[in-house]
Amino acid sequence: MPKTIKKLAVLTSGGDSPGMNAAIRSVVRTCAYHGIECFGVYKGYEGLIEGDFKRMDARSVKGIINKGGTILKSARSKEFRTVEGRQKAYKQLIDANIDSLVVIGGDGSFTGALIFNQEFGFPVMGIPGTIDNDIVGTSHTLGFDTALNTVVDAIDKIRDTASSHNRLFFVEVMGRDVGHIALNAGIAGGAEEILIPEEDLGLDRLVESLNRSRKSGKTSSIVIVAEGDKIGKNIFELKDYVDDNMEGYDVRVSVLGHMQRGGPPSCFDRVLASRMGVKAVESLLDGETNYMVGLLNGKMELTPLDNAIKGKTKINLELLRVSDIMST
Ligand code: F6P
Repeated sequence: MPKTIKKLAVLTSGGDSPGMNAAIRSVVRTCAYHGIECFGVYKGYEGLIEGDFKRMDARSVKGIINKGGTILKSARSKEFRTVEGRQKAYKQLIDANIDSLVVIGGDGSFTGALIFNQEFGFPVMGIPGTIDNDIVGTSHTLGFDTALNTVVDAIDKIRDTASSHNRLFFVEVMGRDVGHIALNAGIAGGAEEILIPEEDLGLDRLVESLNRSRKSGKTSSIVIVAEGDKIGKNIFELKDYVDDNMEGYDVRVSVLGHMQRGGPPSCFDRVLASRMGVKAVESLLDGETNYMVGLLNGKMELTPLDNAIKGKTKINLELLRVSDIMST
């Protein structure tokens, strides 16, 4: 049932990701296109509780499509996890005559949005912004493609020094408790081994594979380790284990860390963000609420927030097989 929206708020929440600014820009400009007043909320749910709002028009978002991070800042708000905090947020929105909310963030942010709607009936729409790509309902979360390119660039650079010194590098990448960054960037970076939480191959198999690589004449190797990997040793312990148990390897460690969250968004993420912003605002105008916009089979689709929150993404088994074959 189409709905009239006079004022709409947009916020970014949780870990930032490249493409969030492009999504903010798209939400603001889609509002302008439809004659809706748009308000940016600073610092995620914390700003919602404090009423930290700023009127934004089409010109407010010029020059940000190519910027990493989020001009609205992000935060993880403990107070919003309390009903009192959510009541304050609801009052701020009502006092400002705002009648819809777009939340750009990950599953934790969507959980807050859904509870907020269930308690106050306030219309909400989610845009999946996280580098982890760990949300069902979209083939790509905002920032995932950019993070992959950042990691591949880092692997290429590490490969130069690894091959110059005949070294084995353990490279830790982000992804929280999934291995999508590790698997995709590992294949693209030509990693000899990729350790991901979804497939615990065990230490013996890793050692056997590294020995096989060396016997086959490889003088340097790169092992990508997802931060959520479950091999039972952290990346520094892995180094020590190889140092103590394997001859002929000079081992180093590189933890890529938060650089994976920054940088100008890729073309793919800019286009994805622009599409998601339009879909989010126009879905609210169609009277929809409690959905997440996502890319499925190349199209913008809606997934109930509850499914997006509860669902668990699966590793692409075909990619896993490709990675095994490539490490021959
Ligand atoms: O969810 C995005 C992410 O970058 C994860 O990959 C990582 O584990 C986490 O955020 C780091 O959180 P923080 O920014 O609080 O250190």
